[in-house]
Parts: sequence; structure tokens; C-alpha cells
Amino acid sequence: MQAKIEKISPLSALAIKNIEEQENKTVDFLSFREKLSFANISHPEKRKEWKGARLAIKSALDAINMAYPGFYKDEHGKSYPMDGYGNVSLTHTQGLAAAIFHKEMPVGIDIDYIKEKVVRLGPKFLDPTEIAFLNNDPVLYTIAWSAKESIFKCQGRKGISLRQHILLSPFDINDRVIKGKIYDTDFADHYYSVKVERQHDLIMTYTIW
Ligand SMILES: CC(C)(COP(=O)(O)OP(=O)(O)OC[C@H]1O[C@@H](n2cnc3c(N)ncnc32)[C@H](O)[C@@H]1OP(=O)(O)O)[C@@H](O)C(=O)NCCC(=O)NCCS
Repeated sequence: MQAKIEKISPLSALAIKNIEEQENKTVDFLSFREKLSFANISHPEKRKEWKGARLAIKSALDAINMAYPGFYKDEHGKSYPMDGYGNVSLTHTQGLAAAIFHKEMPVGIDIDYIKEKVVRLGPKFLDPTEIAFLNNDPVLYTIAWSAKESIFKCQGRKGISLRQHILLSPFDINDRVIKGKIYDTDFADHYYSVKVERQHDLIMTYTIW
């Protein structure tokens, strides 16, 4: 997937970074707490992913003329701006890191490689009604997985099962926006629209409003 910075609306932007290209970039903009967190990551790949994701947030914020506020994580692992203003989501996979920011609404983003084995794993994260329209197609399965991860990250709480609590409406290979909901929890049902982008063997999804 190609690196890019995209202003989705005046309120929202996303950025995808090639992790290897970020190695020599400085991260002076990080908050003191983030610099500490970064210093504590010893695994070289994890360091690159973490740094790439923060440089992606910075670029997304630049695109909508916002200063980098620094981010902290809640007990579920979801990041929030230190100034309490806006919503962010991050993802990284081999070679790539991406981030999305929205000034007003919660967001979720995910990138995944299309892999054949996702079909075999289907029953772990899919409802039988979803398996029925995915036609054993690894591309559709990857889109379904990624969309559920984006919805999961958008709401951010643990205790939400991709299989039991996130249900996707039927979609096909040509759909660029798919619908899903979080249901059957202690809270009211929540409805989501998820943008789907494909490049070669990669799928990126993110929630839109
Ligand atoms: C948390 C989770 C969404 C992370 O996804 P992942 O594919 O492992 O990793 P990604 O690179 O796409 O995303 C990582 C980012 O997710 C974010 N994240 C972690 N927990 C989060 C949460 N509860 N809510 C929102 N975002 C979260 C973090 O920012 C992290 O990046 P960072 O470590 O650099 O800060 C995933 O591990 C998860 O729990 N998924 C759903 C649970 C599930 O049902 N899984 C098994 C089904 S078979």
C-alpha cells in the first residue's frame, strides 16, 4: 500500500507511512510521556511500528492544521489526546503504519494482508449469516476481519467479541463502504459505516461518518 496523507473532511484525516522510510525522521513532537514509552520499547520491529504510527498521526493532524497534543492510553489500550480534543486510531502491519484522526467522532482504522488462512479462521470471528455471503473468498474474509477490527477499535472496549457482538451487513467485492453494528451488549446498538480500500494484497478499512 502506498504511503499517503488524505484529508477525508475538514474534521478528519488519515496518513499511511512506509515504516522503513521513517527510521531517520525525528519525533521531537512527542510528549514527555510518549518519549518515555518509546524509550521502553526494546524490540526493534515494535519500535519502528510505534514510531511510524506516531509519525502517521502527526501527518494526519498537520493535514487538518492541528497541533500534536500528545496521546495517552486508557486501560483498554485505546489512545486519547492529552488535551481531550478529538479521536485517534492507529494500526501497523509488516512495513506499514497508519493513523486516522477525527475532531469530533470516534474512529477506527486497520490494515491487513490478504491471506488464504483467514478463511479457515472464519468461524472464530464471523457469525454464520456472514459466512453465508463471504463465499469462501480470502479477499472478502480479510475485508470482514479488517472492518470488524476497525469497528472494535472505534468503540475501544474490551469484552466485545468480533463474532458475537459485531455483525456486518452483506457486501461484495465492489462495495467501497460496508455497514456493521455492535449489538447484544449491555449498551444500545451502535451502527457503523466502514470505508474499504484495497491495493494488491493489502486491505485498509476505517470508520467514516
Ligand atoms: C486491540 C486490537 C484491535 C489490535 O489490533 P492488532 O491487529 O493486533 O494491531 P494493529 O496494529 O491493527 O493495532 C494496534 C493499535 O491498536 C490500538 N489499540 C489497542 N487496543 C485498543 C483498543 N481497545 N481500542 C482501540 N484501539 C486499540 C493501539 O493504538 C495499537 O497501536 P500502538 O500499540 O502502537 O499504540 C486487537 O488485538 C484486538 O483485541 N482485536 C479484537 C479482539 C478479538 O476479538 N480478537 C480475536 C478474535 S478471533
